[in-house]
Amino acid sequence: KTLAGFIAGIPKAELHLHIEGTLEPEMMLALGERNGVPLPYPDADAAKSAYHFSDLQSFLDIYYRATAVLVTEQDFYDLTIAYLQKAVSRKVCHAEIFFDPQSHIARGVPFETVVGGIGQALSDANGGLGISTKLIMCILRHLSEEDGNAVLEQAVRWKRWISGIGLDSSEKGNPPGKFRELFAKARHYGFFTVAHAGEEGNASSISEALDALHVIRIDHGVHCMEDPVLVERLRLDRIPLTICPLSNVRLNVFGSMREHNLKTMLDAGLCVTINSDDPAYFGGYVNENYLAAAEALNLDRNDIIRLARNSFEASVLSNVQKKLYL
Ligand code: HPA
Ligand code: ZN
Repeated sequence: KTLAGFIAGIPKAELHLHIEGTLEPEMMLALGERNGVPLPYPDADAAKSAYHFSDLQSFLDIYYRATAVLVTEQDFYDLTIAYLQKAVSRKVCHAEIFFDPQSHIARGVPFETVVGGIGQALSDANGGLGISTKLIMCILRHLSEEDGNAVLEQAVRWKRWISGIGLDSSEKGNPPGKFRELFAKARHYGFFTVAHAGEEGNASSISEALDALHVIRIDHGVHCMEDPVLVERLRLDRIPLTICPLSNVRLNVFGSMREHNLKTMLDAGLCVTINSDDPAYFGGYVNENYLAAAEALNLDRNDIIRLARNSFEASVLSNVQKKLYL
C-alpha cells in the first residue's frame, strides 16, 4: 500500500478546522454571485493564485474579506455540509469545528443565522453521513474582551449546539491574558476551552494560555520547544497540541516542511495531532497534511498511527466513545 493510501485508510479525528477556512474559491464565487457580494477575483484560478501569504496577518486579511459572501443560513449550511462530506471521504470520523461569529456579526449577519446554518448541518451529518462533531465558538483576539463577552452571552442560549470556546486571529499584541475573565465565565457556563497559542507567539504565550485561561488543549503550540520546563509540563499532563503543518509552512512559521518540528515534538512524547486549519487556503485537507509532513519528515507508519490515535485521545469525546478508536 502506498503511504497516501495508508493515511487515507485510517480513522482520524480533526480538531483544528475553521469552517470559514473551508470556503473553496468555487463556492466563494458562487455565493458571491447568489448574494450580490463583489469579490476582487474574476475566477477561481485568480483567487488561488492570490493566496500567497507572508505571515498570519496577511492571511487573515484575505480570509475575513472572503467571508463576506456568507450571508444566509443556507450559505452556512452549504459550507458546513461541503466540509463534512470531504471529511467523511477522508476517513475523518470525528471533527471539532471552529467558527468566528464576530466576523459575521460585524457585517450585519445575525448570530442565529450563523449558528443555525452550521448547527443544522452538523446535526444532519451525524445521522446522514455518520460523522460525530463538536462546535467551538472562537473569540477574535484582535477585538476587545467586551466585544467577545457579547457573543459569549449569545452562545449560552445555543448550548445544545456549541460545546467549546476558542481563541483565534492575530496573536501578536493580543496575549491570552487579555481574555482571562471571558474564559473564566465560559468555563462557569460549562464550555470547554481551547486557544491558539505559540503559532507566531513564543513559548510564554502557551504557558499563559494554560495558566490564565485554563484551556484543555493548545492550537498550534509549535513554539513550545523553546521552553524545556513547558515541554515537560505538556508531556506529563498530556496536554494536546493541534498541529497544522501546511498552514505553518504557508504562513512562514517554518521556512519549509523539512524544518517543521512535528517529529521532534512527537519523539519528545507530546500528544501532537495533525489538522488542516484552513484547507481551502493552505493547499490541503487533513490527509494531505499527514502526507506532506510524513514525506518531509520521514514519518513511518507507526508515527502515523500514533498521530491518528492522539487525535482521538485529544478530542473531547467521552472515554466510552474514544474506546471505539484507540
Ligand atoms: N491562527 C489564528 N487565527 C486563525 C487561524 C490561525 O491559524 N485560522 C483562522 N483564523
Ligand atoms: Zn487555526
